[in-house]
Amino acid sequence: MLRVVQISKHFGQIKAVNQVSFEVKAGEIYGLLGPNGAGKSTTIRCLSGLTVPDEGECLINGYSIHSEPIKAKQHLGLVPQDLALYQDLSAHENLQFWGRAYGLSGQVLKERQATVLEQVGLDKRAKEPVKNFSGGMKRRLNFACGMIHQPKALLLDEPTVGVDPQSREHLLNAIESLKQQGTAVLYTTHYMQEAERLCDRVGIIDQGKIIAQGSVAELRKQMDEKDLITLEGQFDEADKTKVADFEVIECSPQQMRLMAVNASGHLSELLARFQPQQIHQASVQQANLESLFIKLTGRELRD
Ligand SMILES: Nc1ncnc2c1ncn2[C@@H]1O[C@H](COP(=O)(O)OP(=O)(O)OP(=O)(O)O)[C@@H](O)[C@H]1O
Ligand SMILES: [Mg+2]
Repeated sequence: MLRVVQISKHFGQIKAVNQVSFEVKAGEIYGLLGPNGAGKSTTIRCLSGLTVPDEGECLINGYSIHSEPIKAKQHLGLVPQDLALYQDLSAHENLQFWGRAYGLSGQVLKERQATVLEQVGLDKRAKEPVKNFSGGMKRRLNFACGMIHQPKALLLDEPTVGVDPQSREHLLNAIESLKQQGTAVLYTTHYMQEAERLCDRVGIIDQGKIIAQGSVAELRKQMDEKDLITLEGQFDEADKTKVADFEVIECSPQQMRLMAVNASGHLSELLARFQPQQIHQASVQQANLESLFIKLTGRELRD
């Protein structure tokens, strides 16, 4: 349903998107996981036709968004990171606006308005102007506007940011039911837990490049079943030789990061190799998408 082929986009010196390719099939949720500035929104903007990439191509249901935009957009829904709502209009009127923009009218539009308002839990507040809504309520309405026309492909740019845990659960369930109905979903996030829970496949993106791609299980395998150990304290280069039998990811004056199978079992023996006052804190993280990101980049997902 969605195909991104080798797209790149520069802004001056910044390579916001660098040779990115991926596909999303019908009934699949593909996650783009990456930190602030990684290039997630720029990728979504290229796919939705809001930005023209310097090179490469974006296809929706086989149609190029740039050379056949009308056919391509027919099946596309967009939930942008920056809210696309009219503050003085009610939730109902916003949905009417977006429904009409996507070609709905009459009874069909009315029924869809009622359905999506209920899906995002705003049916009782539908007549109030959006400016009275909380941040989380606006996010939920933003989501409803993007799916009012039941698109076959849906682009979701960090739809749960600023949403309370209960509403987040509501949104994630709604996205899962869209998947069950066969919608292809592209989901960007910097929340590792959301990507792990929701996505059939994940592309980890950093500085415009996809640095790892696969199912969550496949990506975890790239960690070779190793856990990540983070030691905080005071270190110098000589300390590296004390841990030569571990895989050292990072050694800075304040922090050391190591990888090991069954790290918890090795921790006390590892700590005994240092002076007691040298280590202020030690933690073990099991193989997950966050630890893979740290392994690949030496940095955390949230800077
Ligand atoms: N219109 C623009 N003009 C100049 N630079 C831009 C523009 N849009 C994006 N960028 C830059 O491109 C890079 C990628 O930005 P982008 O918004 O795609 O990141 P992101 O992954 O969506 O980040 P976030 O998680 O913060 O939303 C950043 O360095 C950003 O400053
Ligand atoms: Mg963004």
